[in-house]
Amino acid sequence: MDPQTRIDTALEQALSAAQHEDCPPRLRESLSYAVFPGGARVRPRLTLSVAAACGASNDAVVDAAAAALELLHCASLVHDDMPCFDDADKRRGKATVHLAFDERIAVLCGDALIVTAFQSLAEAAASSSALPELIRLLGQAVSVPRGIVAGQAWECEPDVALERYQQQKTGALFVAATRLGAAAAGVDSAPWARLGERIGEAYQVADDILDVTANPDEIGKPVGRDAARLNPNSVLEMGMDASVLRLKKLIKAAVGSIPPCPGHEALHETIKIEATALMSAALTCHAAA
Ligand code: IPE
Ligand code: IPE
Ligand code: MG
Ligand code: MG
Repeated sequence: MDPQTRIDTALEQALSAAQHEDCPPRLRESLSYAVFPGGARVRPRLTLSVAAACGASNDAVVDAAAAALELLHCASLVHDDMPCFDDADKRRGKATVHLAFDERIAVLCGDALIVTAFQSLAEAAASSSALPELIRLLGQAVSVPRGIVAGQAWECEPDVALERYQQQKTGALFVAATRLGAAAAGVDSAPWARLGERIGEAYQVADDILDVTANPDEIGKPVGRDAARLNPNSVLEMGMDASVLRLKKLIKAAVGSIPPCPGHEALHETIKIEATALMSAALTCHAAA
């Protein structure tokens, strides 16, 4: 099975219990709406790649961890798009959840996806000795003091350090992506944190460049939200040239920070391909702007 199909199948499985007829219909519909069709699924694909590089043998646990991670990401997008955060009208080319349904459903949809992520993983990996570590890594990535919740809360502070904000709102989930892959393979996940940090930081710098330069129809979400909402953004803070330079440095650092593992060569190749695609998307938009 290709990674995309594996991830979508695991997501269907993770959401299946929530799709019970006892669940209020509009909330139930909003859960699928927020998760399918997906975006690039970059985080769970990273988990699958790291797990394979570490020689994982239990695909069911790897897939469940990857799906939980993607559910948390989808939840963060639903809340991020709401009027009290970025007030965005489009996500993945569709109306955002609060517009397609309403704001109350969007709050509850995000809440339900967050809890479903942990619940579905707990069930799918019940007999795995890695389960407590997987839950711990996911919790760390999305909560306080250094996860997504903390990252988004920097937008509510008068003074924000750009790097810390980006590490928490975006980097933390990428750290979870690499560490989950290692942990699901039964190896020490700590050495995998640095790779996730660097990819995550690069990913957010690229997203900041897109927020300033991209065509909204091409990326399926509005642009200019950071300036409109006074959210910290690499380009707005350090300029375009410095941001592109930072992106290049982060990508180089990421490619160079893969820990020793049995599938090092293949993972190196995968990360190089992804990084090149990220770089060219950012540079194309920059050149066209
Ligand atoms: C958007 O993430 C939020 C950021 C951290 C930049 P993605 O660009 O991964 O969004 P999807 O999942 O592909 O739509
Ligand atoms: C990304 O925030 C991190 C989240 C917690 C969703 P952004 O606001 O920069 O991401 P986009 O540009 O809306 O996807
Ligand atoms: Mg935001
Ligand atoms: Mg946003």
